[in-house]
Amino acid sequence: MRLVLLGPPGAGKGTQAHRLADRYQLTLIATGDIFRSHVAHNTELGQEARQYMDAGELVPDDVVVRMVTGALAEAGRGFILDGFPRTRPQAEALDRVLEDLAAPISAVLVFEVDDETTVKRLAGRRTCKRCQRTYNVEFNPPRQEGVCDVCGGDLGQRTDDEEATVRHRLELYHDVSQALTTFYGQRGLVRVVDADGTQDEVTERAVAALSDLAPAAGS
Ligand code: AP5
Repeated sequence: MRLVLLGPPGAGKGTQAHRLADRYQLTLIATGDIFRSHVAHNTELGQEARQYMDAGELVPDDVVVRMVTGALAEAGRGFILDGFPRTRPQAEALDRVLEDLAAPISAVLVFEVDDETTVKRLAGRRTCKRCQRTYNVEFNPPRQEGVCDVCGGDLGQRTDDEEATVRHRLELYHDVSQALTTFYGQRGLVRVVDADGTQDEVTERAVAALSDLAPAAGS
C-alpha cells in the first residue's frame, strides 16, 4: 500500500501516520520530522530549512523534492507520505519519481477538521525530541509529564506551534496545499476521513476508508 496523507496542521496526520505505518507495516516518510531531525543535528539542510519552519513558511520545493526522492528510493514498496506533497510542483515531481519506481499511489487520505480545533490541539502538543511521537497535554497526555511513553526521551514544544505561526500555516494550507485534494480527487484517489473525534475513532475511520486495500498491506 502506498499512501499520501493530506490535511491542515493539527489534523492528526502524524498521529495517524504512526498508527497506520505500524498496522500495515509501511515505511513512514514524514517531511516535517525529517527536517526537524536535520535542524536538531544542525546539518546544512537543517540550517536552510529552519528559517522557513520557524516562520511557518514552506521550505522551497526543490529542497523538499530532493530529500523525498532519496527517502523514496530507500523505502521499499509500501510507504506513507506525511506532509508531502504540499504544492502542485511537489505533486508533479512525486508523479515522476513514482513512475520511475513503478510504484503508483494507492490512496490519498484527506483528514478534515475545522481550524479552531487544530489551533487548540497544537497549543497542547508535546513532541518527543528523540523519536518524534506526539502527545497532547489535554487529549493524549504522556504517563509521566515531559517523558515519552515509548522511548523515554524528553518532550518539548515545537517552535512553530505558537498561535500566530499556526494561523499562518493554516492560511498556507488553505491557499496552497488544499488544492491537492482536487488534484488527486480527479484521479479517484481521495478518501476523506473525518478527523474530529478521539484518536481511536479517527484511526477506525481511516482503516475503514482503506478496507478494500488492506489485503495488499505491506505489498
Ligand atoms: P509538519 O511537521 O508536516 O507539520 P504540519 O503539516 O503543519 O502538521 P503538524 O505536524 O503540525 O500536524 P499533524 O496533522 O501531523 O498533527 P499531529 O498528529 O501532530 O511540517 C512542519 C513544517 O515543515 C512546515 O510548516 C514547513 O515549514 C516544513 N515542511 C514539511 N513538509 C514540507 C513540504 N512538503 N514542503 C514544504 N515545507 C515543508 O497532532 C497535533 C496535536 O493534536 C498533537 O498534540 C496530538 O496528540 C493531538 N491530536 C491528534 N489527533 C487528535 C484527536 N483526534 N483528538 C485530539 N487531539 C489529537
